[in-house]
Amino acid sequence: MEKIKQSLTLLLIIFFMFFSSFAQGHKNYIVHVSKTHKPPIYGTHHQWYISILTSLPPPHDTKKLLYTYQHSFHGFVAHLTETQALILPNIPGILKVAQERTGYLHTTRTPDFLGLTELSGLWTNSNYGEEVIIGVLDTGVWPESESFNDDGLSPVPEKWKGECMSGPDFPVSSCNKKLIGAKFFVKAYEAKYGAINDSVQSRSPRDTDGHGTHTASIAAGSVVKNAGYYDLVRGEARGIATKARVAVYKICWAEDCAEGDILAALEQAVDDGVDIISISIGRGSGLEYDDDAFAIGALRAVQKGILVTCSAGNDGLKTKKTPEHVAPWILTVGASSIDRDFRADVILGDGTMYRGVSLYSGEPLGPSYYPLVYAGNHGHRLCAGNSLSKAVKGKIVLCDGGINSNSQKARVVKEAGGVGMILANNLYTGPGGPADEHVLPATMVDPTAGNTIRNYIKSQPSGNATIIFKGMVIGGNPTIPAPLVAQFSSRGPNRVTPEILKPDLIAPGVNILASWTGASIPPLKFNISSGTSMACPHVSGIAALLRKAYPEWSPAAIKSALMTTAYNADNTGKTIRDFTTLNESTPFDRGSGHVDPNKALDPGLVYDLGVNDYIGFLCSIGYTESRISVMVHDQNINCSTVGLASPGDLNYPSFSVVFKPATNKVTQRRVVKNVGKSENVVYDVKVSSPPSINIDINPSRLVFSPEKQILSYEVTFTALGDQTKDALPEFGWIEWSDGFHRVRSPVAFTWGKGSVASI
Ligand SMILES: *[C@@H]1O[C@H](CO)[C@@H](O)[C@H](O)[C@H]1NC(C)=O
Ligand SMILES: *[C@@H]1O[C@H](CO)[C@@H](O)[C@H](O)[C@H]1NC(C)=O
Ligand SMILES: *[C@@H]1O[C@H](CO)[C@@H](O)[C@H](O)[C@H]1NC(C)=O
Ligand SMILES: *[C@@H]1O[C@H](CO)[C@@H](O)[C@H](O)[C@H]1NC(C)=O
Ligand SMILES: *[C@@H]1O[C@H](CO)[C@@H](O)[C@H](O)[C@H]1NC(C)=O
Repeated sequence: MEKIKQSLTLLLIIFFMFFSSFAQGHKNYIVHVSKTHKPPIYGTHHQWYISILTSLPPPHDTKKLLYTYQHSFHGFVAHLTETQALILPNIPGILKVAQERTGYLHTTRTPDFLGLTELSGLWTNSNYGEEVIIGVLDTGVWPESESFNDDGLSPVPEKWKGECMSGPDFPVSSCNKKLIGAKFFVKAYEAKYGAINDSVQSRSPRDTDGHGTHTASIAAGSVVKNAGYYDLVRGEARGIATKARVAVYKICWAEDCAEGDILAALEQAVDDGVDIISISIGRGSGLEYDDDAFAIGALRAVQKGILVTCSAGNDGLKTKKTPEHVAPWILTVGASSIDRDFRADVILGDGTMYRGVSLYSGEPLGPSYYPLVYAGNHGHRLCAGNSLSKAVKGKIVLCDGGINSNSQKARVVKEAGGVGMILANNLYTGPGGPADEHVLPATMVDPTAGNTIRNYIKSQPSGNATIIFKGMVIGGNPTIPAPLVAQFSSRGPNRVTPEILKPDLIAPGVNILASWTGASIPPLKFNISSGTSMACPHVSGIAALLRKAYPEWSPAAIKSALMTTAYNADNTGKTIRDFTTLNESTPFDRGSGHVDPNKALDPGLVYDLGVNDYIGFLCSIGYTESRISVMVHDQNINCSTVGLASPGDLNYPSFSVVFKPATNKVTQRRVVKNVGKSENVVYDVKVSSPPSINIDINPSRLVFSPEKQILSYEVTFTALGDQTKDALPEFGWIEWSDGFHRVRSPVAFTWGKGSVASI
């Protein structure tokens, strides 16, 4: 066996000595090494790795050993030729050699997952959003973070009217050509909670929480070489609109984000001249528009041409909880997973393996197996506070998921003397799921694996196990299905106005690496976090790129481009699934689909809207002129002149149809504008409808000409047969295409039980 291997190696060497004179490109390789194979003559693993590398055929370069790892896995990353990488696996002790995927893609990953490249598409067509200003309303910013370096940026845009508040904890030097503005809003908060205690939080734009620094760096973080999270991820990190400018408005403090401060910050951002506003902060679902500071402030922003992007909320499938920020003038973003995992697999004594995820980054378990016990037999199945008996000492403990937090369970196991923890989640947590930091070697497996492991313990009282920490895995084998709608992402229907489908779309929000506050314990430059809070700034960054590419587009046109070009199939070609159930997701979960930046650059048609349309919409849902004037105070409002026949007539890029009792027919109107390269173009419509509903479009062909760049159509939805009022929601879609562009809108059907607003 050994012999065959050697001759094969020799053959390869000969082949590559010939070949490598043509292609002597170096690439980064991740080399997994068996810890115990280190020959005793080497004092450290590092010395051993250097000697391995010098034993390879030339060229030799002392700098090719880039990193040595000893925590999440054993091994190193080296810059090697293909020939060298091919020979490496034959050296005793080398377990696996894998080519690293290009630079930054490894670290932040999401730009690559979104299809953004340096070669073509939205990045190159927008010069990375240079000159565009993104206002981030959040917990402030850690200005020293490398994500806000301004290397190579042009001067601060002239239109910028904002300022950088300085003070003892926020020197003038905190701002630069990247972080062009920073302000804090605390009056309303202090009125409510008393004066800020400076020794606990910073009375300045400084972020002592981490959330604001994370979201701002996702939207517009500059390129940072050698970023990482412990040893789990290393490489280049970057935001979406790498050259866009950031203006930070700190509105959230230890207890709360006060409504007065929110409104003041929104006003300020508009006056300062931002182009995009990104809000990853919620106030709960179900708020009326004129009772919601975000909706009120956002309408004014939209009136001034500023797009407002908000997170949909993290209420997942909880009943009665629905998306937040549902105003039709806001772009509402749900969260999805990407094709990357932080893998930590369980191997049982019987040799079976179960996929798990973990952000644990300390010393891994030794190579041997440890006795495995179930927490339910030794105190409390949930590993709740101080519940475990000392019998778990030196053992791996299987805890059930739910109730108390995952990281608390790990602390309880550690305090009882356990060496490791396997968390059997009560929801599907498999590939692509959010991973947690832990105080001891711990991983999380999905319910099916949890059941199998529980049964193994029952049948093998002296059973054993180990956890193998594999670090970051992209793509995976079998493939990590992606995107999936994240389990925590808030789902429709829209409780405030059922005729508007929300969320609008989904974007990456699971295990996102971005900058963090330096005030954290331990201090972290970068951290991994999950939530719709992380999804929103991805879309804010993409919107900034589109704003740069099309300076004349309205916020609604940008939003339309993002929605009608979103995709709905995952990397296996099937409809995007829901993480929790692995069932197909619906437009209530994913809205128009997953954002597709490069497609949004060329949407073909857009559904445009202006502030008068929103006023007409508010009239149509029964708001009086005086209620509306609370939100729009610089113009006279007369609902009998601007009102829409129904809220469903708002020129929205998606459809939500509510069949009221005794009505089986609903008609909605839309207007589309040709924004494609050709003025003479013909679009035909295609629909998909559930069997119980008929969709009729008139006209079904739109012929655009230089004189006619804006055309309208009417859709009639007819429910066939007898629909009981308890009927489940149904879904379909409408797609206009000229053979090249596909302008697609999802349709949701629900059956109202009385008034329009009660669903
Ligand atoms: C501020 O917080 C510190 C630390 O918790 C505490 O010792 C101090 O008494 C607080 N000051 C006031 C005025 O509350
Ligand atoms: C673990 O369990 C397997 C299967 O029962 C057994 O063969 C092995 O010896 C055990 N290892 C340890 C370290 O107990
Ligand atoms: C990193 O982020 C996670 C998720 O937001 C948080 O729970 C954790 O406390 C953060 N780590 C530090 C050191 O602040
Ligand atoms: C998922 O699909 C299965 C099979 O079609 C179905 O029985 C189950 O109710 C679905 N789960 C949810 C939460 O919709
Ligand atoms: C609103 O418009 C209608 C129709 O043009 C008009 O009759 C009415 O007087 C207007 N109301 C106000 C308050 O201006």
